[in-house]
Amino acid sequence: MDRAAILGRTERFVRRRLTGEPTGHDWWHVERVRALSRRLGSEEEADPFVVELAALLHDIADWKFHAGDTEAGPQAARAWLKECGVEVQVIEHVCRIVRHLSFKGSDVPTPMDTIEGKVVQDADRLDALGAIGIARAFAFGGRVGSELYNPEVSPLRHQSFDSYRESNSSTINHFYEKLLLLKDRMNTRTGKRMAAQRHDYMERFLEQFDHECKGEK
Ligand code: ADP
Ligand code: NI
Repeated sequence: MDRAAILGRTERFVRRRLTGEPTGHDWWHVERVRALSRRLGSEEEADPFVVELAALLHDIADWKFHAGDTEAGPQAARAWLKECGVEVQVIEHVCRIVRHLSFKGSDVPTPMDTIEGKVVQDADRLDALGAIGIARAFAFGGRVGSELYNPEVSPLRHQSFDSYRESNSSTINHFYEKLLLLKDRMNTRTGKRMAAQRHDYMERFLEQFDHECKGEK
């Protein structure tokens, strides 16, 4: 199968699997991450085939919905890419990206060793920021039963993946525990610039939220 056919088949596979997913990890999240990945990837001269496959497959079996198992995603991606007859080096590269992409706590490093990984990680993180990021956070929190906001519980710094994985903080705390930390963890120049803009928008949202909670505005 040629590369265009593999990408087309993979798109249909992911679309079938993730359409209607209710926590913000749905097909349209993947589509936005793919579009941003293509853009960042061409600026960084990354391998477009690896970038696009990793963007398409990055949430195929997220640990958050597979009992915390970080191997579920790379395993599902590997099985699919083998079925498509993709060459071994590409499979290994894509699976490494899927394995290491996800945020795992404020004090837990998530390094990417290739430009293709850095590009897809930035694209995925950008979709957790800004207006879309706010919408996704509340969709996720609502679905998993988190409180919207609880002024009696302060945000935490998570020193280990286990403590992050087991956390059930309010959605507002999630902004302080993850979303506001992302702009300083971006890899690419364009990723950093876009993250800064989306970060400012979230700060404005949180300020207004705080004023409203206090009945000030
Ligand atoms: P990552 O790969 O870093 O896990 P994802 O692409 O899976 O990122 O998407 C994470 C999305 O889910 C973000 O938009 C984030 O706000 C949301 N999310 C994850 N955990 C929580 C949580 N505890 N409360 C609210 N939203 C969350
Ligand atoms: Ni994602």
